[in-house]
Amino acid sequence: MIRFHGVTKRYGEKTAVDGLDMTVENGSVCVLIGPSGCGKSTTLRMINRLLEPDEGTIEVDDKALRDYDPASLRLRIGYVIQSVGLLPHMRVWQNIALVPRLLGWEKPRRRERADELLDIVGLDPEEYRDKYPAQLSGGEAQRVGVARALAADPPYLLMDEPFGAVDPLTRATLQQSFRDIQSRLKKTVVLVTHDLDEAIYLADRIALMRDGVLQQFGSPAEILTSPVNEFVREFVGSDRMLRMLNTVELGAVDGWSGADGSRPTLRDALSQLLSAPERSIRVGLNDGSQEELDFDRIREMVLP
Ligand SMILES: Nc1ncnc2c1ncn2[C@@H]1O[C@H](COP(=O)(O)OP(=O)(O)OP(=O)(O)O)[C@@H](O)[C@H]1O
Ligand SMILES: [Mg+2]
Repeated sequence: MIRFHGVTKRYGEKTAVDGLDMTVENGSVCVLIGPSGCGKSTTLRMINRLLEPDEGTIEVDDKALRDYDPASLRLRIGYVIQSVGLLPHMRVWQNIALVPRLLGWEKPRRRERADELLDIVGLDPEEYRDKYPAQLSGGEAQRVGVARALAADPPYLLMDEPFGAVDPLTRATLQQSFRDIQSRLKKTVVLVTHDLDEAIYLADRIALMRDGVLQQFGSPAEILTSPVNEFVREFVGSDRMLRMLNTVELGAVDGWSGADGSRPTLRDALSQLLSAPERSIRVGLNDGSQEELDFDRIREMVLP
């Protein structure tokens, strides 16, 4: 669990984070979102003590951050930075095994762990382990960045725009594989993004910030259906009920095919339905059952 109590961070005159109170439950994904400069990265960096708050406290596992020594803290907290930051002169497997090396693992064990992680993030170890970062595409490098953060199996994961710099299709694939990984590994994740649809798709809780102040903290459905103020309402947009469709994931939709390994949502089902000759279509639900879906049923599924 990560707990913020009245956390404030200033840079000179500028208050980057202002009195933040927030709790991130174990095994959940908290997505920080908000306009550029609202304090997302600053918030993230205070969690692993790259930055120290001016006021307030942050607790990890009920212990104040200042009572951890920074080195042991960083072993408990994996960190994926926006620019990926792989070391160019090291091979992929060596990049992934950086923290295990710091921990003194023997080379065979490090190599084995790197292979295991390449598998987890969906890269073939045979093909990728000996490459150099310059030989990777943007999406592949981001996968390696995630693998590196997971290397020592930390319970916590901080991710600053981890899927930022890739095309929409690759992004969808990375988001999907993140969800798959997360459903297996159940890390406690704080992830920063600019992209509201990404937040809705990945988050258990969304923290929407503005000028350093937390505006609303709630599930994607709460943020979309009950914005607490005008700013939140504007941020989620007048098409927020359309965005709600993305919060409902399906097993299959007749006639739908998406990015590699991705699964359809109610939004894809609606899109198929709009072009279907009938007034309903067949969809598979997540539990494996099937259902005949029409407009009324979609409305029912999307309203809380
Ligand atoms: N080292 C610094 N010195 C002075 N001001 C800073 C420093 N780092 C950040 N700031 C300011 O603090 C505020 C919050 O910055 P932060 O990087 O947390 O924003 P962000 O929400 O991550 O933005 P973006 O979405 O653009 O990455 C901004 O106004 C920024 O200009
Ligand atoms: Mg930032």
